[in-house]
Amino acid sequence: MKAYTFDQPIGIFDSGIGGLTVAHALVKLLPQENIIYFGDTAHMPYGDKSTAAIQAYSIKIAHLLLQQNCKLILIACNSASAAAFDLVKEYVGSKAIVMNVIDPVIHLLRDHYKNKQVGLIGTRQTVNSNVYKKKIDKLNNGINVISHATNLLASAIEEFGNNKVIDSLLEEYLTHPSLNNMDALVLACTHYPYIKDKIANYYANKIEIIDPSQTVAKAVKAHLEQDNLVNQLNESPTKHFYVSDYTDSFAANAKKFFGAEITLEHYPLWD
Ligand code: DGL
Repeated sequence: MKAYTFDQPIGIFDSGIGGLTVAHALVKLLPQENIIYFGDTAHMPYGDKSTAAIQAYSIKIAHLLLQQNCKLILIACNSASAAAFDLVKEYVGSKAIVMNVIDPVIHLLRDHYKNKQVGLIGTRQTVNSNVYKKKIDKLNNGINVISHATNLLASAIEEFGNNKVIDSLLEEYLTHPSLNNMDALVLACTHYPYIKDKIANYYANKIEIIDPSQTVAKAVKAHLEQDNLVNQLNESPTKHFYVSDYTDSFAANAKKFFGAEITLEHYPLWD
């Protein structure tokens, strides 16, 4: 028997502002859900950390989200999805649904990109884990994945937003020969939708840029619908944001996406 009900919140976590891109898409599709978001800004960037470190952070955050009574925990970070999804799922057990940001994209590629050459950019953790390639190779439908780690991008987005520093980094990373001849490019880091326009411009809009935010949000909605767990009766949905370290970037982006309706709180998970 399930231990959770429709009126419990959805928990979402990332190393910082990246997961807000997914949270924003989710709130548009499921406006009556209560949301609890944890940004592990004290450990940002995750992409450089060891698998063991990301696993330890993720378990502790999942524990917090369970304490907050979440019915579903969405790992809104590719690096943590790659390093810690199986472990978090095992830890959470039947207490909540656990989802990642990778599987919905694999399903999208399976359904629409047969025999295509698909590029992928993400953190070193995500790219080196080879998780996308392993899952796509299992589909056996002619998709060829080529990937390149664009490690400094997430930190630069946290620090500078979408300014000219990003242009220089894109010039450096995207000219890499491993990314030649793609039909589409997956933004395999939840921070990258912030600079989606710059990436599309870099390719003169000639290749398709896959921003997973919508795809992931749709997958969460479908899962909740299937289990009869969508909250449809909530007249005043709440959005609570916790950060392990207060940053201006987090506060500004959370307000930009969610306006005045949010509460932002420093949660000293590591003190
Ligand atoms: N947004 C994250 C991801 O999708 C993490 C970026 C980072 O902290 O390095 O991988």
